Parts: sequence; C-alpha cells; structure tokens
Amino acid sequence: MDLKERIENGQATVGVLGLGYVGLPLAAAFLSKGVPVIGLDTDSAKVDCLLRGKTYIKHIPDETIALCLSEGFQPTTDFARASECDAILICVPTPLTINREPDMTYVVLSCESLVPYLRRGQMIILESTTYPGTTDEVMRPILERSGLKADVDFWLAYSPEREDPNNPDFETVTIPKVVGADHPEALAAAVALYARVIRRVVPVSSTRVAEAAKILENTFRAVNIALVNELKVVFTRMGIDVWEVIDAAATKPFGFMRFTPGPGLGGHCIPIDPFYLTWKAREYDVASRFIETAGEVNTSMPHWVVMQAMEAFSRRGRGLAGARFLMVGLAYKKNVDDARESPSYKLWELLEREGVEVSYHDPFIPVVPPSREHGRYAGRPSVSLDRAGEFDAVLIATDHDGIDWPGLLDSAKLVIDTRGVYRKPNPKVIKA
Ligand SMILES: NC(=O)c1ccc[n+]([C@@H]2O[C@H](COP(=O)([O-])OP(=O)(O)OC[C@H]3O[C@@H](n4cnc5c(N)ncnc54)[C@H](O)[C@@H]3O)[C@@H](O)[C@H]2O)c1
Repeated sequence: MDLKERIENGQATVGVLGLGYVGLPLAAAFLSKGVPVIGLDTDSAKVDCLLRGKTYIKHIPDETIALCLSEGFQPTTDFARASECDAILICVPTPLTINREPDMTYVVLSCESLVPYLRRGQMIILESTTYPGTTDEVMRPILERSGLKADVDFWLAYSPEREDPNNPDFETVTIPKVVGADHPEALAAAVALYARVIRRVVPVSSTRVAEAAKILENTFRAVNIALVNELKVVFTRMGIDVWEVIDAAATKPFGFMRFTPGPGLGGHCIPIDPFYLTWKAREYDVASRFIETAGEVNTSMPHWVVMQAMEAFSRRGRGLAGARFLMVGLAYKKNVDDARESPSYKLWELLEREGVEVSYHDPFIPVVPPSREHGRYAGRPSVSLDRAGEFDAVLIATDHDGIDWPGLLDSAKLVIDTRGVYRKPNPKVIKA
C-alpha cells in the first residue's frame, strides 16, 4: 500500500521532530484526530517533562499534554524510533548566526540523525521557516546519504508553520496550511496527511514556492511594521499623533491593513526570517532593498525611544544618568511569555549605557530567562507595579492585557509610552 493510502486509511504514524512552540501543538493536532505521534527531540529534559504529563510552554496546559499521552503520544530522544514513522515533520529552530546569516545547524543535524533510520516509502516534511531552496539543496543531499533517493524511494515536502502563539482566534486546525513538493505524488501524500487535521490545505507546485510564501508573509509584516515605525518618527516631529492617524486610516474598509508602531521588532520570526531571503538573494546577484531598509528602521527604533526619553528628561532640566526606570514588558509582544529577540533588551542596554538603572515588570516573565545574548540579565526578578512611584520614569515596552494602566499612570512620575496605551494628551506621558 502506498503512503497516501496508508494516511487516508488512518494507518500512518506521524513523527514530529522538534517539540517546541511549533512541534508540540502540531503533535497535539494529529493526536486529537486519532493519528499516533512519536515525538523526537534531542532535549531529554523536555522529553522527561512531557512523559510526566507536564508542559514547558505557558499557553499549552498540563491537561493538553496528559490528553496527548492518553491519545498515544510517544515523546522520546531515541531517534531509532524514526523508522516507525510514515511521515516525519521537522520543526527545529532556524536562527541567524552571529553574522546574521542563516544558521542551518539544526536542520542539518536533524536530517543527519534521520539518515540511519530512513526507509523506503517514508515522507520527510520540513516545517521550519527558511529560504527558498533549503528542502532541495540542504535536506535532499543529506537524506540521500542513506542510499535512498528522494522522490523515488522516499518523499520530500515543505510546509511552513503559521502558528501564532496565544492568538485566541486561530489554532493549528483552523489556519490554512501551504504545502509544496517537487513531485506530484509527494505533494498528494503531504496534502492527504495535513488534510487529516487541517481544514484547508493549500498545495503549491514546489518546495521553493512554499518556502518563499512563508518568507513573503513574514517580510510583509516586517516591512509594514517598519513603515509605521518610520511614520511615527516623522509624525512625532510634525507634532501629529501617529496613533490617531492610524485609527483614522484604519476606518478605510478596503486597501488598508492596520499595523502598529512599537519600540522595535521582536520575536524569533519577523526580525530574522526576511534575512534568510536577503542572504539567498545575494547568491543570485539581487538586492532585497525593502528588507534591508525595514531592518534598518526597526533596528533604529529602540535608539529613537531612548532619545525621546533623553529629550523629555532634558526638558525637565536633568539628564538620564542616575535616573531609575521601570520598564513594563519584557516579552516581545503582548500576552506571551516569550522574550526572544525582544526590543526590551535593547532598550535596557541602551538605557544602561546612558547611566540609567533599569528594573522591569512583566506579569508573564517573573524572572529574566537565561539566554545567549542577554545572559547578564538572567535571574533578575520582575518588580511589582505597586512600586512604580519609586521610579523616575515608567517605560512601556509591551502593552500586556490585565495591567491597571490608569492606576499606573496615577502612580508614575513620568511615562514613556511606546505602545500607544495612553491616547489622551497628558503632561506626564511622552509618546515614543
Ligand atoms: N514559534 C512560532 O510561533 C513559530 C511560528 C512559525 C514558524 N516558526 C518556525 O518554526 C521553527 C521551530 O520554531 P519553534 O518556535 O518551535 O522552536 P523551539 O525552539 O520552540 O523548538 C525547537 C525544538 O527543536 C528541538 N531540537 C533542536 N535540535 C534538534 C535536533 N537536532 N533534533 C531534534 N530536536 C531538536 C529543541 O530541543 C526544541 O524542543 C523555526 O523555524 C521557526 O522559525 C515558529
């Protein structure tokens, strides 16, 4: 029986390689439809945690993990179990190197770990965000070291993940899924697989088209965020409130999409993914100018915010040196516990460079997590907002729900608001 038939008859076992923000919800989605899932991860602490029915992702509760286990979820670090899977979905990180080039280490290592266990009739699908050509140029040659040939002995496909953690309006099942493969049978099998769990599967003609579609989506966001950030700087200089402008423009029922400015760009997708394309485009002697410009604008935003704070202090007859700031929000966006690539870290560094003593408050991040880039802040605790009045200024970096914003305004001496929390003019509020 071929793979597509096995999938359609409910006989296929799915392997999810990389049980993080993307892999875990994907595994849960397949399990909820009765598809057995073997979860492969190199991190034994995560696997142990899952086996105990415990979560390590804030918006995925323990009950979901317990339910997954009862539905046949088998998390393991034993990659030999890959041979039991009919389809393996790779959901590993794709960060940038220190030189801001694509870091393919995790994709390469995960393919290498599959080579000894690859067997005829299997399907390998990459879900990680990456530049066009990765599945064909990076994965294919590694997997073919097994002696098997892609799109002859095993199928290869690419299907980008569109997970939006903690978005109450969408979940894995309701987000349409683009799938691309370089062989019609591979595409048919991949579409059949995702159709078991996802309401709308969107087939495209190649892995490259699917890879490029994901990069387009994230570049679209990065460029539009840069645009409103740039307009914030322009309008502020003109004495025009950018938030009021955006609210007015957003009443246009067609041809406009609302994006909002902020202190920079964060998360581990939007600031990173477009540069995967920039890097690949160089190979073809073409420049991706919008991406570069958007990157420059977004990177400059924390500097601009600090400059606004500096000017506000100087108007009050003092400098920033020696001031005490309470930064509200470490997460890169509201209502998540994820501080990866958060502009808050940049604000923290820049303020410290000006001699400011910075504390932070984030209801979702009680302690600064360890990280490669910002290790020196690790372990610092979130400070209660009850103490806001003790600080010379409150800097709003993330507009989490559930914060008593009017109360904060009452108790703060000065507020630097990068998120448009306070709309009415107030001498205490500096919109930045
Ligand atoms: N998080 C999101 O919201 C989101 C949304 C869309 C796309 N993506 C993309 O999805 C991919 C995965 O992102 P994530 O947020 O789930 O990452 P993550 O860091 O949360 O999870 C990755 C997992 O892979 C595991 N891993 C690393 N190397 C491995 C290996 N060689 N073998 C097996 N497991 C390995 C890690 O231990 C970790 O559990 C990235 O390309 C990301 O850009 C993420």
